[in-house]
Amino acid sequence: MRTRGPPASDGFSCGVAVRRDVNPRRLLSLLGQLVAATGLPYLVFAALSLVWDPEGSPADRDPEARPSVSVVLPTYNESGIVESKLRSICAWDYPMDRVEVVVVDSSDDETPALVESFFADRVTPDLTLIEETERRGLAVALNEAYAAADNEVVVKTDCDSRVAPDAVREAVANLADPTVAAVTGRNAEVLGGSGVERGYRDVQARIQTLESHLDSTFVFHGPFSAFERDAIVPVDEDSIADDTELALKIRRGGDRVVFDPAIRYMEAAHSGFRKRRQQKDRRAMGLLRLLWRQRDALFRPRYGLYGLVVLPFNWWFTVVSPWLVAAGVGVATLAGVATLGPFGLAVPAAVAGFVAAGSRDALGPLQPLYSVFDTQVSLVRAGLKLLAGEGDGTWEVDDELREAYD
Ligand code: GDD
Ligand code: MN
Repeated sequence: MRTRGPPASDGFSCGVAVRRDVNPRRLLSLLGQLVAATGLPYLVFAALSLVWDPEGSPADRDPEARPSVSVVLPTYNESGIVESKLRSICAWDYPMDRVEVVVVDSSDDETPALVESFFADRVTPDLTLIEETERRGLAVALNEAYAAADNEVVVKTDCDSRVAPDAVREAVANLADPTVAAVTGRNAEVLGGSGVERGYRDVQARIQTLESHLDSTFVFHGPFSAFERDAIVPVDEDSIADDTELALKIRRGGDRVVFDPAIRYMEAAHSGFRKRRQQKDRRAMGLLRLLWRQRDALFRPRYGLYGLVVLPFNWWFTVVSPWLVAAGVGVATLAGVATLGPFGLAVPAAVAGFVAAGSRDALGPLQPLYSVFDTQVSLVRAGLKLLAGEGDGTWEVDDELREAYD
C-alpha cells in the first residue's frame, strides 16, 4: 500500500491523498521481469542454435553395423492393434534372424493369445512372451523384459506407435560409437493430424539435437528408444518416465545418450485441450518426478555439459518456467484490472482465446508457441497432482487414440 500526492502536512491537500492497493507500474515491471526470466533460457538456446545450428546425430555412426537386437514390446489390453504392430515390426528393414521380440504382457483380454498365434507359423523373428499374472505397471513389466532380453541391443517400442522400416538400422549405427550407449528418435508424423503435437515436436527436435551435440539429451521417447543391453539398469518401479529415466541413469553411468532425427516414428495425439491433458499431464508428472529424484546430478561437473547445461535447461523448462508462465498470466491480469478496471479482464480472455484457437490448430505461425504453452500447462497441473500424491505407475490406456492405427 502506498500513499501518493503531497504530504498531508503541507496545508492544502489534507485528506486528498490517493490510496492505491495495487500499484500498476510496479505490477507491469514485475510482469516484465517475469517475461524476461521465463524467456531468457529460450533466447539463449535460440541464439545458440542460430550461430551453431548442428544437424543430425553427433555420434560416429557405422551404417554397416548389424548387432543382434531384442525388441521389447509392453502390452496392456492391446488386442485391437497388437497384430498390426507385430506385422509392422516384421516388416522392418533388418535381418530378422538377428531379431528376438520380447513381449511383456499384463492384459486381461486376448492380447497374449493373439501374440502367440501370430508367431505360431513364423521362423523368424524369435518370440519371448512374458505373461504377468497381475498388472503392476509398465516400469515393473519393462524391468522384467529387459532382464529377459538376450541380444546385444534392446529396442523398446510402444504398441501404439509405428516405426520407420530403417529405424533400427539408424539406431544401431549410432550405438556403434563406443561412447554412445542409448539413442532415441523423432516423431516424424503425428497420426490424427494434431498440429499442437506437431509444433511441439518440431521445437523439441531442435532442442534435442542441440543437447546431443553438447553432450547428451534428456528426454527419451517411448515409441522408439534403443539401448546397449549391457548398459541397462532397472528403473524405479513406480516410474512414469521409464525411457527418460533409463537414459539418464545410463548417462550417469558414463556413456552418452543421444537423439538422432534420422530415426523416425509415428504416434497418434489429440489436439483438443481437454483430451490432451490426460496423457500430457501424466508424462509431465513422470519427467518432473524424475528430475526431482535425480536432482543430485544437477551442476555436477563429472557429468560434463549434461550436468552443467542440459539438466539445468530441462529443470528450467520443466520445473521452473511453467510457474513463471502461470505467475505471468496472474500478474498481467492484476495489472490489467488495476489500470483498466473491468476491461483488464481482457487479459484472461485473450489467454482463453489463445487456448481455444491453439487447440483447434488455428494459430498459423503462432502454433508452435501455443504448443510450448500447452506443455507448460501440463507441467503446472502435473506439479499439483504430484503434490496431491498422484502418480502410481498404472493408468488407463487411451482407446480413442488407438483407433488411428486401424
Ligand atoms: N506390460 C504392461 N503393463 N504394459 C503396459 C502397462 C502395464 O501395466 N501399461 C501400459 N502398457 C503398455 C501399453 O500397452 C503400450 O504399449 C505402452 O505400454 C505405452 O502405454 P500408453 O498407455 O500408450 O501410454 P503413453 O502413450 O502415455 O506412453 C508413454 O508414456 C509412458 C510414461 O508415462 C510412452 O512414452 C511410454 O513408453 C512411457 O512409459
Ligand atoms: Mn501411447
